[in-house]
Amino acid sequence: MDKILTVQQEALDAIAAADNLEKLNAVKIRYLGKKGSIQALMSEMKSLPKEEKPAFGQKVNVCKQEVSEALEKRQAVLEEGALAEQLIREKIDITLPGTLKTPGTTHPLLMIQQELEDLFLGMGYKVAEGPEVELDYYNFELANIPKDHPARDMQDTFYIDPNTLLRTHTTAMQMRELEKAEGKTPIKLICPGKVYRRDDDDATHSHQFMQCEGLVVGEHITLTDLKGTLEFMANRMFGEGRTIRFRPSYFPFTEPSVEVDVSCPFCNGKGCSVCKGSGWIEILGAGMVHPHVLEMNGFDPEKCSGFAFGVGLERVAMLKYGIDDIRNFYTNDARFLKMFDRFD
Ligand code: PHE
Repeated sequence: MDKILTVQQEALDAIAAADNLEKLNAVKIRYLGKKGSIQALMSEMKSLPKEEKPAFGQKVNVCKQEVSEALEKRQAVLEEGALAEQLIREKIDITLPGTLKTPGTTHPLLMIQQELEDLFLGMGYKVAEGPEVELDYYNFELANIPKDHPARDMQDTFYIDPNTLLRTHTTAMQMRELEKAEGKTPIKLICPGKVYRRDDDDATHSHQFMQCEGLVVGEHITLTDLKGTLEFMANRMFGEGRTIRFRPSYFPFTEPSVEVDVSCPFCNGKGCSVCKGSGWIEILGAGMVHPHVLEMNGFDPEKCSGFAFGVGLERVAMLKYGIDDIRNFYTNDARFLKMFDRFD
């Protein structure tokens, strides 16, 4: 019986002395565990004479009860203490300076794209989209550039397989839209997007760049409509007072084809370093949709006609913002991009 009291006292002292939860848990195992001292007392009971067993058993149970209760109380106290300590340790000092997070800005190429979209949506055009991984069929065949046609060399192509490629011009989307229209007019759309060519990257070339295609097909669409539309665009993009001029050119999918110049916005056509003294800056390629292209896409070239143009967004952005290296658009140097937040 004395032994029980001794064990009990030892346990209670150990509980009181435990100053953290870890130590307390060790005490719990030492006294209440399967191989603990109190369990050992229980097994001792077997060797006692029968009449002493009940009193002994009762005493051990009381001991167990007391120790358990003391443990629980101590645990509550220690837990509370640990929480208080954690709250102090993890207190947030709201007076410390924070981490500055600067918001991004619209990418200059996206700005140009959105400007063009606004401008043409305002004239009743719709904005079409198409895949960057394109079939040879839409990129070349339907655009009147059959296999082995020398015009394929005009655009050095990244091929995925003999029939699939990374589109070399947004004209591929134009072909998809023509086909989709199933001969029905009018068609009025622009298709902005990324295009790819096997160019070596330098200050003015990039193997990936952006274009925006425009396409109008209907009755009595003439070259004059094309000129008026492009002049309007030039004025909106480069400021009022711009004039444009057409120079004869060649594209397999347009006839006639033209190269379009805008009067230099920097010197007003007088001649400066940007326009190399000519007063004109070349901005895009355009023309009347080739009758054969209309035919291949299910339109009757006797009944309808159309114009198309393709403008390079990098070129427009470089002129507009005075950027002299095309690579700036893709390297994502935050200092470069930051310059455009005032246009946002
Ligand atoms: N697809 C031509 C190019 O990439 C541009 C263009 C589009 C020309 C539409 C005429 C008509 O150079």
